[in-house]
Amino acid sequence: MILILRSMESFPLSALLRMVHIAAIVHWIGGVAFVTTVLLPAVAKRVSAEDRVHFFEEVESRFATQARLSTALAGISGFALLWQMNAWSRLLSPHYWWLHGMIAVWLLFTLMLFVLEPLFLHRWFLERARRDPAGTFRLVQRMHWILLGISTVVTLGAAAGAHGWLWFR
Ligand code: HEM
Repeated sequence: MILILRSMESFPLSALLRMVHIAAIVHWIGGVAFVTTVLLPAVAKRVSAEDRVHFFEEVESRFATQARLSTALAGISGFALLWQMNAWSRLLSPHYWWLHGMIAVWLLFTLMLFVLEPLFLHRWFLERARRDPAGTFRLVQRMHWILLGISTVVTLGAAAGAHGWLWFR
């Protein structure tokens, strides 16, 4: 215990913030990858077209609750890192496109998980699925692939940029 407390004294805040940031991203984007590449194809194969959207929404709602937490942690730790590194000026430079990308991805998911979905997106999808079940499920799949693609590019750009490999100079 004493050893742990001693090592905490020299524990850099930036390392702790990075630990939280990366763990939150792994959980959140990993979950999106699982839903996109495993869950949605399995539902498409096993569940009738009429029930697909309903079934998927029911199963995914469990992950949505967890994703709200990891999205919030990613945002808090991300802004805390910016503050800790005093790196706000990066927001004015196109070299740090990946920083803008991280904030854009975060805003997009935050808006969807905390505002659009609870307010109307959930109901809109179910109503649309009643009229066009197969088309609505295809739309859900397409949207997940787009979100996963953007998140992957931003994650790669951020990991490279944070360690000095800036792609566009
Ligand atoms: C409000 C949203 C966010 C803010 C303000 C933010 C901010 C930051 C900052 C300041 C860093 C450290 C950069 C450096 O060391 O030079 C960082 C690292 C990183 N972020 Fe974010 N971030 C956010 C969201 C995201 C999202 C959504 C992703 C993934 C899609 C992401 C992935 C990463 C990765 C992979 C690193 C690199 C960590 C490392 O290798 O040390 N971040 N972020």
